[in-house]
Amino acid sequence: MNSTAATVEQADTGMDGKTILDVENLSIDFMTDEGRITAVQDISFSLKEGETLGIVGESGSGKSVTTRALIRLLASNAIVDDRSRIELTRRDGSRVDICGLTPGDRTLNQIRGGEISMIFQEPMASFSPLRTIGTHMVEALQLHENVSGAEAKKRSIDLLERVGIANAPERFRQYSFQLSGGMRQRAMIAMALVTRPRILIADEPTTALDVTIQAQILELLRDLQRDLGMAMVFITHDLGVIAQIARKVAVMYLGRVIEEGTTANVIYQPAHPYTRGLLDALPRLDAGARRLVPVGGDIPSPLARPSGCPFHTRCPQIIEGTCEAAVPPVTPISDDHCVSCYLHG
Ligand SMILES: Nc1ncnc2c1ncn2[C@@H]1O[C@H](COP(=O)(O)OP(=O)(O)O)[C@@H](O)[C@H]1O
Ligand SMILES: [Mg+2]
Repeated sequence: MNSTAATVEQADTGMDGKTILDVENLSIDFMTDEGRITAVQDISFSLKEGETLGIVGESGSGKSVTTRALIRLLASNAIVDDRSRIELTRRDGSRVDICGLTPGDRTLNQIRGGEISMIFQEPMASFSPLRTIGTHMVEALQLHENVSGAEAKKRSIDLLERVGIANAPERFRQYSFQLSGGMRQRAMIAMALVTRPRILIADEPTTALDVTIQAQILELLRDLQRDLGMAMVFITHDLGVIAQIARKVAVMYLGRVIEEGTTANVIYQPAHPYTRGLLDALPRLDAGARRLVPVGGDIPSPLARPSGCPFHTRCPQIIEGTCEAAVPPVTPISDDHCVSCYLHG
């Protein structure tokens, strides 16, 4: 995104909403041929109605695994720690711990797509080449609601129009490969929203798009979120994108949340050296030329996970003897901002 961290452009309406998702102590390992690796370690966050949470971090930091766990869309070699809890408040007000559901469970099938929908970087993965956009949407809707074919078709076409697809009735009859990249992304969004989910998980939905289309899709998601009153978890590796879409943000590194708070706090007063590194790597409009200072050093292999603070091997402000000894405690910086770093507290 050709943006700068100098502006936080939007605020969703979630500030006063009720909590609909409560994630506590989520830890996920994978068994691999090389050994057991930790992908997500002790993550907690909550999401209110209508709110957008951004999750940011470099590739491999555990963003996708964290959010896939929310609908238990995990590979078979995943091990979810017993203490993990993902509590969803359902439409009818009842609560369910998604960690306690097994694949194939009826409740899980109702939640997937019905209450929590997901969109991805690559829309082709969401569509079968053998079925039309319309067939996908009608099937998704009829899976979750008792509506007639005619009603399902009408709602699907209305939604295709709502996401900015021209000639929606014609597009309804087409296949995903007949659409351009940007239109396909819009069709995937329409498909994810046809069941009126209360939470949308967006996993790098704009990463593969060029800057202009990326901006259009972000604007569309912002509008839809406001109109439909849904909550959103938006994943990206780009803090510039976070500034445009999320009111609060969690910064992840090697499976841990190292800093979190309102987007304004985290972007204007970054507390963790890693967050500062991510901000320094953003192109700046005010610096004339593009100034790209990536975070120095390589991300360690998940098989050789550093002790203590996972970032200490790359940290420009390491406190020798301390940072590698134990994971830093979570320290509040202000009301809506906390960090896990020995430089604070
Ligand atoms: N099925 C799997 N088996 C083994 N390791 C996995 C599996 N899925 C993800 N991982 C590992 O989990 C870590 C986090 O991955 P991921 O959540 O995809 O990162 P991100 O989305 O932040 O780029 C990475 O080290 C990745 O290689
Ligand atoms: Mg990912």
